[in-house]
Amino acid sequence: MSDFGLPSGDSIDEDRLVAPAFGDGDMPEVVLRPQRLSEFVGQESLRENLSVFIEAARSRGEALDHTIFFGPPGLGKTTLAQIVAREMSVGFRATSGPVLAKAGDLAAILTNLQPLDVLFIDEIHRLNPAVEEILYPAMEDFQLDLIIGEGPAARSIRIDLPPFTLVAATTRTGLITTPLRERFGIPLRLNFYTVEELQSVVERGAKVLDVTLQPEGAIEIARRSRGTPRVAGRLLRRVRDFAAVAGHVVIDAKVADESLRRLDVDQEGFDAMDRRFLRCIAEMYGGGPVGAETLAVALAEERDAIEEVIEPFLIQCGMVQRTPRGRMLTANGWRYLDLPAPSSTTQLDLLRDSEKARDDAGDEND
Ligand SMILES: Nc1ncnc2c1ncn2[C@@H]1O[C@H](COP(=O)(O)OP(=O)(O)OP(=O)(O)O)[C@@H](O)[C@H]1O
Ligand SMILES: [Mg+2]
Repeated sequence: MSDFGLPSGDSIDEDRLVAPAFGDGDMPEVVLRPQRLSEFVGQESLRENLSVFIEAARSRGEALDHTIFFGPPGLGKTTLAQIVAREMSVGFRATSGPVLAKAGDLAAILTNLQPLDVLFIDEIHRLNPAVEEILYPAMEDFQLDLIIGEGPAARSIRIDLPPFTLVAATTRTGLITTPLRERFGIPLRLNFYTVEELQSVVERGAKVLDVTLQPEGAIEIARRSRGTPRVAGRLLRRVRDFAAVAGHVVIDAKVADESLRRLDVDQEGFDAMDRRFLRCIAEMYGGGPVGAETLAVALAEERDAIEEVIEPFLIQCGMVQRTPRGRMLTANGWRYLDLPAPSSTTQLDLLRDSEKARDDAGDEND
């Protein structure tokens, strides 16, 4: 199964080269993963704050406060969770929301933690409410309240837990319940990376993979990586393949550009899926607004994949905007597709409508 609960083989995960979602089991990616905070590129203020909190907790000999990372796939949430454990010099246990089906599953993990350990729960927005319930006292008081048995024979027991740090990750801020969110002392948000940051990621990757890469080649890959280190790493590996087969020893801008073109990644870093998404809104729905569910059906993709993977970057690039009535193509989006935008009055009316609706109802997302 993929990150989205799609069967593997689904186009979003397997065939789409710039899709950030890619299993952590992908070996080359593990090789490229930074091990220390000092090797972690970008997210500067997050990194600075985190290093202060880690140093303070270390010097007190305490567990780090519970920490949650928010952000789109492939920006480094799992990497940072592992780095936290390494910098704290404590053990690392990892699980994920959908895996913890029953309260007992979480209890088994919690009772096996060593003092100060990091417990990483990925996709915490997909936690079963019954499991979430027992997580609250565990996070707050390091206590586990379990009900044993059923009916009149049922009794509750309380187990003391060692102090630990819960590190959670989610791609969907809007789906975390407020009580859960409030129990994290350190909430941290990851943003898309700049081209310069991704250039460093690519250059670091080239060293690890022992590839000779010119700065212009690195920039070419960085520019087309959807602001996402995971995509940068993957494009680097594919460009390396093309270069090797074509007999190029050095990867310069030309070699990188040719390879990326063959991979169908365009100058903006958009791939066939991005273009399909934009064209669908333009050609089938006159530029929108169109709801996520409708788009998912029209594109034969999972709604989650659209909301988590495709949309965030296109919104960040100003190609699409979210309104309470659905997704709309922006003037930039029309320009990118090289299609005439509908008359400005229509667009303005829609925008005014959507702003009014937002005041009335609050945004559909988050
Ligand atoms: N700041 C960074 N510097 C260098 N490489 C990075 C950075 N962030 C991420 N990477 C690379 O990107 C890959 C993906 O990162 P990671 O698995 O941590 O993303 P994620 O946010 O957990 O994604 P998902 O939401 O899909 O689980 C890592 O294996 C690593 O190679
Ligand atoms: Mg992850």
